[in-house]
Amino acid sequence: LIIIPGPSSQVLGKKIAELLKTETVTLHYKRFPDGESYIRLEGEIKNKSVVVVQTTSPPQDTNLMQLCLIADAARNHGAKKIIAVIPYMAYARQDKQFLPGEAVSIKTIANMLSANGITQLITVNIHAEQALKNFNFTTKNLSAIPLLAEHFKDKGYTGAFALAPDKGATKYAIEAAKILKGEYGWLQKERDRYTGQITVERKKLNVKNKDVIIFDDIISTGGTIVNAVKILKEQGARKIFTACVHPLLINDAQNKIIQSGAEEIIGTDCVPSPVSKVTVAPLIADTLKTLKE
Ligand code: R5P
Repeated sequence: LIIIPGPSSQVLGKKIAELLKTETVTLHYKRFPDGESYIRLEGEIKNKSVVVVQTTSPPQDTNLMQLCLIADAARNHGAKKIIAVIPYMAYARQDKQFLPGEAVSIKTIANMLSANGITQLITVNIHAEQALKNFNFTTKNLSAIPLLAEHFKDKGYTGAFALAPDKGATKYAIEAAKILKGEYGWLQKERDRYTGQITVERKKLNVKNKDVIIFDDIISTGGTIVNAVKILKEQGARKIFTACVHPLLINDAQNKIIQSGAEEIIGTDCVPSPVSKVTVAPLIADTLKTLKE
């Protein structure tokens, strides 16, 4: 295997290569003044299996375009196989037609990747596993929730309550609770498909005087977490932390969450950010080790 750390995952890509003790191919990349992307591979990849590590967090479209350019260039320069490691899979929330006339965005992305020679995908906590049905090649969805839970365990929060801020995130709370050896629970959240407005049911939780860690896949605007923190405070929770795999942290999300009363936000380097303190490099490297060349 040979690793190409893409422009959006330079640090993570190099970490993975170090763990695998494998070579990397340097990329020359730039954006033209009009916004177009340019890439050039600066290494030999003929007859090699290449792994392109490129997250697709904002700016999603640019990062996806760069990934396609890298994959296509690798194919044209004789790569034997192209594996994409996309730690944050953009467009995965639009995995079906919710309203008449909508595009199924993830299907379009899957087709783009396939058309550019990618035959295998490794991603981390894709928003909904069912999105992977749209890919006509092999996919693997890893979970970084145990790594986040271990982080809190190492900090002494064994026994903390693991909260899912909506029903869909319950699987994350369950995964985390197994490691934290505490209770778990979830909130009932509804989002208006037209306005994006969320409402959360004020459900009774067993959190009085307990430390609580909220686990979610994505923090985007922070609205979901702020609502959850509010409910936890009303119910007498002690310290409240928030953990997510993909800290997109749009606009002032980080500030909003801290202002609402959360102690800290911990994310992973699936999305580089000031809170990305947990690395998924070992998780991805171990998975790559299991792949047949
Ligand atoms: C939604 O189901 C996701 O798991 C996250 O809860 C959501 O994307 C977070 O968005 P925001 O931070 O804008 O509330």
